[in-house]
Amino acid sequence: MAISAIIGGQWGDEGKGKVVDLLSSEVDVVARYQGGANAGHTVYKDNQKIVLHQIPSGVMRDDCKCLLGNGMVIDPIELVEEFENVKSKGLTINNIFISMNAHITSPIHKLIDVNSEKKSNNKIGTTGKGIGPTYVDKYNRKGIRSCDLLDNENLKSKIEKQTNRALSSHQISTDDLNSIKNELDMFFKACNTISKHITDIMPILHGSDNLLIEGAQGTLLDIDHGTYPFVTSSNPSSGGITTGLGLPLNKIDRLIGIFKAYTTRVGNGPFPTELFDEDGEKLQNIGKEFGATTGRPRRCGWFDAPLAKYSIMINGFNEITMTKLDILDEFEEIKVCTEYECNGEKSKNLSTFINQFDNITPIYKSVPGWKCSTVGINSFDDLPEKAKEYICYIEEILHTPIKHISTGPKRNDMIIR
Ligand code: IMP
Repeated sequence: MAISAIIGGQWGDEGKGKVVDLLSSEVDVVARYQGGANAGHTVYKDNQKIVLHQIPSGVMRDDCKCLLGNGMVIDPIELVEEFENVKSKGLTINNIFISMNAHITSPIHKLIDVNSEKKSNNKIGTTGKGIGPTYVDKYNRKGIRSCDLLDNENLKSKIEKQTNRALSSHQISTDDLNSIKNELDMFFKACNTISKHITDIMPILHGSDNLLIEGAQGTLLDIDHGTYPFVTSSNPSSGGITTGLGLPLNKIDRLIGIFKAYTTRVGNGPFPTELFDEDGEKLQNIGKEFGATTGRPRRCGWFDAPLAKYSIMINGFNEITMTKLDILDEFEEIKVCTEYECNGEKSKNLSTFINQFDNITPIYKSVPGWKCSTVGINSFDDLPEKAKEYICYIEEILHTPIKHISTGPKRNDMIIR
């Protein structure tokens, strides 16, 4: 059994969907282990764009089984919408299997999420998909799991209890509740629809010959290792795989870190290399940096090497895929943050300053841009010399091989080294 995992090395949106899609040609199963409808993985089929939120990107291949692991939080309404969307693109949903122990996001969770953001003085900038409140219920041992969807009466009673708890703790009001009556009806219908996909996924997972694990979000959004409290509520880092799927630690052969050739972040929280100038706007416009789930503009900045090194250390990446190299094509000068300075102290290790992250000054090294198109280039040798130098420079700082380089949105816009 060969197992590979694809994990976001930065703050999410690194282009993991495309890499999963590429590698899934070699695998029989693709599994997700955390997160839920907050994710947005963009893939292309016959030049048609498909945005996946909860369904693993393996759905693009008819013969690939897709598993939604116990560590995920599943939104039934959104999942049914996704089912319809992938079916309309000619793809099958027959190979999608949901773990019996995955937790369920209800319309109440979404209300709590949105209300809590409205009231907060320290907004996280969540996706509003109810992710945090679903995980809160899970860890409070009050969660609804997908196995609960198999018994309608039990499900209704659990939703009633969840609603009463939210009302009595003033997380939602009766007006709020009235406003989601239709949504609650849709929820029960959607639960019924997705219940056909709920099963014991262990035999598929452990019976796979070639398994690909698909991370969502990114390492710096990890609840334990990210820029807390501006994080998501799960463990996108490799540590989440073992609990989020039920795979032993010693089974994973290949850990692939996905990094953009620059850095982006959506939502609030510190971001040392963020650009507020023309270069930032250029990255945002050329890179079409708008959230796949919420449409929010993504904040953009230069590549942050201390952040990448930390991510490699936390996850144990043995190789890197660099995405969106082509977005840097028009820049005269490209910067790479090589070190941080905080209160007069310098460090190349992010962990030194992780709790003072909003007080960091990045120290940059400038490298010359290549000023010509790399879009669609498939061979490393065909890249302009300065683009090769940029990649080799980053590889040298990170001490980790960059084995794939994405040069455009299409499936084949990829260099395999
Ligand atoms: P939540 O996961 O909706 O609770 O949001 C928490 C933080 O994670 C916010 O800053 C979101 O913008 C960010 N976030 C959640 N999912 C993604 C993602 O898939 N890509 C990028 N950022 C995300």
